[in-house]
Amino acid sequence: MDGNGRWARARGLPREEGHERGADSVRTVVRAARKAGIEALTLFAFSSQNWDRPPEEVFHLMELLRRYLVQERDEILGNGIRLVTVGDSERLPPHVRAPLVDLMAASADNRDMVLCLALSYGGREMLTKAVREMCRAAIAGRLDPAEISVETVESYLDSSRLLPPLDLLVRTSGEHRISNFFLWETAYAELHFTEKMWPEFGREDLMAALHDFAGRERRFGHTSEQVRPPAASGGNGGSGESGLD
Ligand code: FPP
Repeated sequence: MDGNGRWARARGLPREEGHERGADSVRTVVRAARKAGIEALTLFAFSSQNWDRPPEEVFHLMELLRRYLVQERDEILGNGIRLVTVGDSERLPPHVRAPLVDLMAASADNRDMVLCLALSYGGREMLTKAVREMCRAAIAGRLDPAEISVETVESYLDSSRLLPPLDLLVRTSGEHRISNFFLWETAYAELHFTEKMWPEFGREDLMAALHDFAGRERRFGHTSEQVRPPAASGGNGGSGESGLD
């Protein structure tokens, strides 16, 4: 969700105003994703590195998060959304952790969409944690290093327990970087870049990203012939005819 600061600066506003408008986009996009039938939506809301921003900005982002969790509680519960997090959420201040833990528990049985907030999250940090836990298991005799496979590593990542495989990553604000997001999970994800700043990103932009995604041919290392159904003329075969509105 990049570009809050630049959106504000371009309008002579403080960065905080950009984050406020960014939180409005969060509301809009969560609603649109639920309506579009998306199974899981992850929002990179605060990175492990964001703790090093000026203390006033970190304070404001934490307050914004707390407010979002309190204000959106009914809508999240009423729409069958299950809230989960990835990242080191233990680092969050108690006034954010309390409504977060409460809403995660209250929404745990919801099945219509997963909303995952990446909080105090870093892809490298998560991989490092997985390596640490695998080493511990190996030392304790619960894991044979010779048996470690792609599936084993995946099983040590919280994302594999909480989320389906990642299909699409949307990056706003014209940047073309992963910025320590889902490093493992993006292996076969489709990437969609938009010049829009996050505070300007709305339902139409989400639908445009889904159209783009629907026109991609996902080969996972195979050939076109292998992945295309013999008689296919549309579907996910690169025709661009997605059927999404
Ligand atoms: C990156 O833009 C954005 C963030 C570090 C914070 C994202 C937070 C929100 C959108 C609002 C709070 C979240 C929720 C879930 C309610 P930037 O500030 O780095 O922008 P810049 O690159 O233009 O400076």
